[in-house]
Amino acid sequence: MYFPKYRSRRTRRTENLRRMVRETHLRVDDLIYPMFSAFGENIKSEIPSMPGIFQQSIEHIVEEAKEVYALGIPAVILFGIPECKDPLGQDAYSDEGIIQRTIRAIKAAVPQLTVITDVCLCEYTDHGHCGVIKDGDVDNDETLRLLAAEALSHAQAGADIVAPSDMMDGRIAALREILDENGFSHIPVMSYAVKYASAYYGPFRDAAESTPQFGDRRSYQMDPANRIEAFREAALDVEECADFLMVKPALAYLDILRDIKERFDLPLVAYNVSGEYSMIKAAARLGWVDHDRIMMETLVGMKRAGADLIITYHAKEAARLLAGQ
Ligand code: PBG
Ligand code: ZN
Repeated sequence: MYFPKYRSRRTRRTENLRRMVRETHLRVDDLIYPMFSAFGENIKSEIPSMPGIFQQSIEHIVEEAKEVYALGIPAVILFGIPECKDPLGQDAYSDEGIIQRTIRAIKAAVPQLTVITDVCLCEYTDHGHCGVIKDGDVDNDETLRLLAAEALSHAQAGADIVAPSDMMDGRIAALREILDENGFSHIPVMSYAVKYASAYYGPFRDAAESTPQFGDRRSYQMDPANRIEAFREAALDVEECADFLMVKPALAYLDILRDIKERFDLPLVAYNVSGEYSMIKAAARLGWVDHDRIMMETLVGMKRAGADLIITYHAKEAARLLAGQ
């Protein structure tokens, strides 16, 4: 059936027709909103490279958590900026740590909001690496013990899902084991399974004050040039009983999202990272792109590529647009 008898434009003619043949839908249920919880009181300071995103002390975090829930967004993911950093990142697994206190405050105020916690050490170590340093590099197995303690203490504080982002080998199994041994067999692990060593994390590291003080993260995060290795990473995490898989960043890795979606049956998360957010904000400020349209196009592109869920700093803006506000 060819032109002139067949005409593709017939089903594009009106908005109703376009709605009827639309293949991919972004829904508010798909969104996860990241928040940065800072030690102290009465703090609300905007991250210069991330307009609209703030480091906030707990009382402001709780207010925003209420707003997020009222918008219909099902979940937040928390990052912490502790009072003190040290070589072992002790605030990360302390019962009185910044994240533990934030979880309890959110759960007391908005119990139905799903609280996901980022499990990593880079926000808590003075050297800014994602684990313990030995001989100038991150020591894998020593780091596993601390990550397990961190995940357990998040669960004890009331976290609904733990999400390890460190890229150590064996962390999913280590987290699953300690959670199961301590009565948290019902708490899912969302694995940052396929996480690349990316320049797109730049603005986040300002936000979390987690830039490595020496070297970089290439001895544990993946090489952006690798695709087959992503299958291996995901397969290992499935073996170790991950409940969600994640691909991060998203925009430059849509092929990987598609590949992982086709090969694995776990719910798939795309992390629309800080640099992706900043680029849209910057271009929109310059008047070079239409902010709302390019944001929605980017998010629906991630869903079309295979994401079931999207962690995005745009979550509140997108939820408002989806609600027609
Ligand atoms: C911590 C972590 C990072 C991000 C999420 N968890 C930074 C990093 O690995 O350097 C990046 C998120 C973003 O850029 O929005 N390991
Ligand atoms: Zn880290």
